[in-house]
Amino acid sequence: MKKRSRARGRKKEKQALLFIVAGAIALAAMAAAAILSHVGQEDQAFTVEVVPAALSQEGEAGAALFKVNCQVCHGPNAAGTKLGPPLVHDIYNPGHHSDEAFYLAAATGVRQHHWPYGDMPAQPQVAREEVSQIIRYIRELQEANGIVYKAHSM
Ligand code: HEC
Repeated sequence: MKKRSRARGRKKEKQALLFIVAGAIALAAMAAAAILSHVGQEDQAFTVEVVPAALSQEGEAGAALFKVNCQVCHGPNAAGTKLGPPLVHDIYNPGHHSDEAFYLAAATGVRQHHWPYGDMPAQPQVAREEVSQIIRYIRELQEANGIVYKAHSM
């Protein structure tokens, strides 16, 4: 009699252990799925098609500065990459992001708010006059791609 109940006890222990192991596996799978979906999100790139613009002299100067200082994240023709958003995008039309937003972005960086890329680090190596030229370049690209001033209602 005693032997039997001990055997039953052991069986219960085994069941409990199996239950715990199964639970742990399920948790690990959920954690892995969460991590994977997060990684997937970080890899997301919101690139756009950009028609190159006929640039003014100031725009040309800005293009060269953009290439050196901004392109690594914002991409060739400011079309975006996996590290930063396209600036030739309607949310950066001059009514929503004035030139001041560009001066601020270069001087102090940008807190993540529109995209899942994280913060933009400040670019203090770019002087204000140089940012002006970069702005000219971006605005000329925007215009060539039909992105024009729209009053921002907020
Ligand atoms: C290391 C990557 C990186 C570099 C280099 C970089 N940016 Fe950015 N930038 C970002 C990211 C990421 C955002 C988006 C932040 C958000 O809105 O979530 C951003 C946003 C911006 C914005 C929008 C600001 C706002 O108010 O929403 C402007 C303008 C901008 N960048 C201009 C520039 C210019 C000009 C340069 C070069 C001088 C530059 N960026 C270099 C990553 C970068």
